Amino acid sequence: MKKFVNQSLKSFNTFGFDVSAAEVYEVTQNSDLNELFNMGIFKRSFKIISGGSNLLLTKDIETPVILIRNKGIKLIEETQDYIYLEVSAGENWHEFVLYTVDKSWGGIENLSLIPGCVGAAPIQNIGAYGTEVKDTITRVNAFNINSGDTEIFENEQCKFGYRDTIFKNQVKDQYIITSVCFKLHKKWSPKTEYGDIKKQLSDNGIINPSIKSVSEAIIQIRQSKLPDPSKIGNSGSFFKNPVISKARAEELTKLFPTIKTFNVNDFEVKVAAAWLIDSLGWKGHQENNIGVHEKQALVLINKGGGKGKDILTLAQKIQESVKVKFGIQLEFEVNIW
Ligand code: EPU
Repeated sequence: MKKFVNQSLKSFNTFGFDVSAAEVYEVTQNSDLNELFNMGIFKRSFKIISGGSNLLLTKDIETPVILIRNKGIKLIEETQDYIYLEVSAGENWHEFVLYTVDKSWGGIENLSLIPGCVGAAPIQNIGAYGTEVKDTITRVNAFNINSGDTEIFENEQCKFGYRDTIFKNQVKDQYIITSVCFKLHKKWSPKTEYGDIKKQLSDNGIINPSIKSVSEAIIQIRQSKLPDPSKIGNSGSFFKNPVISKARAEELTKLFPTIKTFNVNDFEVKVAAAWLIDSLGWKGHQENNIGVHEKQALVLINKGGGKGKDILTLAQKIQESVKVKFGIQLEFEVNIW
């Protein structure tokens, strides 16, 4: 296990904020976690970075930072219809998706090009284009920082919800995910119902989409709307789409007829936070080398040389203006350090 001191975290967060960490430990195998356990690191406060794609760094970090970099994709079982894989937490998410797409194993192609690592995917139940990762995860293996044992969380135990799981609530900061097990489909009908997928496929001249053509379409859509973190610092959607009651949504629709909502169940709807923010004129807003992306109002950006604390101030101003105009409290999707 490598240890770095006074390490810049610039290349470890997709916003590209240049804060420093007093000590950083790079975990490349599960036994490194036992070593950290024996060193007593988990008795102190500490922080974990995997892909750093859902993280806003506002200040230097004094506590130990653990970088999860274990690698490996293991085929656990293959049946006529399914493939079962165990994937190490430190694998890059998009590279893993491309690996499965290349083999024509279906289930996660709609989650192409999401930044981050495999181990972070279950924590917030990543989702895009009509798919959530919970639908392909069978179990999550996680290191218990209190006992030093590795434990299994079956799918139902993870309590998956919209950008939500047990790892963000009841057992928050108690476990480090070491690997994730997936069940993928060998016989698969691509999901193309969401928004622009059909249009993109038709623009590409595709009539019977394969898993690969859906993945390619998603990549094109994302590249056209979302900034590439290697060029413009960002952490994807900064805010979650708020879920409100149907009755409240009906009142809001009377006042704001173009508001965008999506049914969640018989009683609740999800409101497009991007629409709320956009309608208040924030899209394209810039200050102090940071701002709101010009093509997607949910995405805050570091134009280079910006500061995390300025992003936080801007995010709070956006929250406040949405609250005043629509009476809705926007929640952050990213973690603030
Ligand atoms: N819209 C606006 N203004 C904008 C952007 C969008 O009014 O600047 C409207 C659109 O017209 C659309 C609605 O808002 O009707 C929803 O927009 P979009 O389909 O782009 O999706 P989103 O709700 O803004 C969510 C996820 C994204 C994911 C997309 C596609 C959340 C918080 N975000 O965004 O996830 O890629 O759907 O499935 O759920 C992420 O989590 O980091 C992320 C990028």
